[in-house]
Amino acid sequence: MTLWGGRFDSAPDEVLWAYTVDTSDRRLLPDDIRGSQAHVAMLVARELLSPDEGAALQQGLTEIAREASDGRFGWLESDEDVHSAVERRLGEIVGPVAGKLHTGRSRNDQVCLDLRLYLSRSGREQIKGLARFAGMLVDKAEEVGDTIVPSYTHLQQAQAVPLAHHLLAYAEMLRRDAERMSGAVGRIEVSPLGAGASGGSSLPIDPLTSTQALGWSWHFVNSMDAVGSRDFVSEYAFCAAQAMVHLSRLAEELILWATTEFGWVTFEDAHTTGSSALPHKKNPDIAELVRGRTAAAIGDLTTVMVMQKGLPMTYNRDLQEDKRAVFHIDDTLAGSLGALGALMSGARFSPPPPSSWVTALDLAEALVLRGVPFREAHEAVGGLVSTLVAEGRDLASATESELVAADGRFIPTDVALLDVEASVRRRMSPGGGSFENVQRQISWIREALAKTLSE
Ligand code: ARG
Repeated sequence: MTLWGGRFDSAPDEVLWAYTVDTSDRRLLPDDIRGSQAHVAMLVARELLSPDEGAALQQGLTEIAREASDGRFGWLESDEDVHSAVERRLGEIVGPVAGKLHTGRSRNDQVCLDLRLYLSRSGREQIKGLARFAGMLVDKAEEVGDTIVPSYTHLQQAQAVPLAHHLLAYAEMLRRDAERMSGAVGRIEVSPLGAGASGGSSLPIDPLTSTQALGWSWHFVNSMDAVGSRDFVSEYAFCAAQAMVHLSRLAEELILWATTEFGWVTFEDAHTTGSSALPHKKNPDIAELVRGRTAAAIGDLTTVMVMQKGLPMTYNRDLQEDKRAVFHIDDTLAGSLGALGALMSGARFSPPPPSSWVTALDLAEALVLRGVPFREAHEAVGGLVSTLVAEGRDLASATESELVAADGRFIPTDVALLDVEASVRRRMSPGGGSFENVQRQISWIREALAKTLSE
């Protein structure tokens, strides 16, 4: 049964039906019911429904909510969408008064509200998932203690840093993802109910009353914007896509670190897979799939943005297509947080120490402290590096006299600067890769995450 048969002489063609009906909106069932409950409350408050009619509709909606949560709700092939299904079922339960549910409302404001309700509850879950993941990274940072690794730029060893500093960089990225999602949720929780088909209604409906019934603080100010805009969907998809990109970068590093060449990390057997051909292998499939699925997540963001770019105002059926994309990216992020979280929390780190080349900057900075312009200091250390490389030696093998020969402003005790651990211990710039800064980050990220998780 459609909600719009009146002006049609024939029933919808099978081709039309098969092509236009998308059952993916069924997951909006609880949201559709909740939105309708708020709408009915408003209709009663505005005396567009009698208290008895309102009570009958609310009781019917409550029954449908029960069916939905018990998994008993019966979908029919003839339900055009979730909105039609709820109205159909309401009629079966409460009779003809169900026909009053859609008073002062259109599926255009309804679908937008449903999606906002869904993304609000799902976004709140994602925020918690992101915060928990960041918290797990902070735990790991604590667990690896004073382990030192090279930081990389251009995938070349750059400076010595605590491994914890590297892990905390990801914790900060994920914490920011949670914060970003929470900003998006604030803009999602704006009610479009009362915008109607596009221009509002001649009935004395009141968007503020339904907004309050939803427990939200804000409603639309322009009915055309309310039913025609989906930037809240783009924003949600962006928050999820960006978080997936962060997970994908971490996944890529875990894959790299688990290679024989790097040898930084091993994973629990239960989180890795074997090779059907090569008996010695232990593959980091979870990380590879997170990296692989990020492609489709970026595709989902692209889908919702491109879908909007040529739309004339206001509602167009194209907008039905945002749901599959945003549900897909939503599931992808939730699943990836869970799986990569498990892989990462079981990871055991024991990286080899960085090469002594990572102390080259310390040598140059020692000269800077003696008043040498950085460019000159860079040149002097570069010359020493070049000589040592030509001799097949590393920086730590440089002798006191070789140092002084490289630049007369070096002093013999400067060889102590070539120690990798000392390099980390000397680091003092705020936010840098020092053990003190690791401790500061651990406490402030923990505090920020505790706040996020308690909201
Ligand atoms: N299934 C539609 C969607 O997802 C619901 C809104 C339909 N509105 C309409 N006027 N046909 O966007």
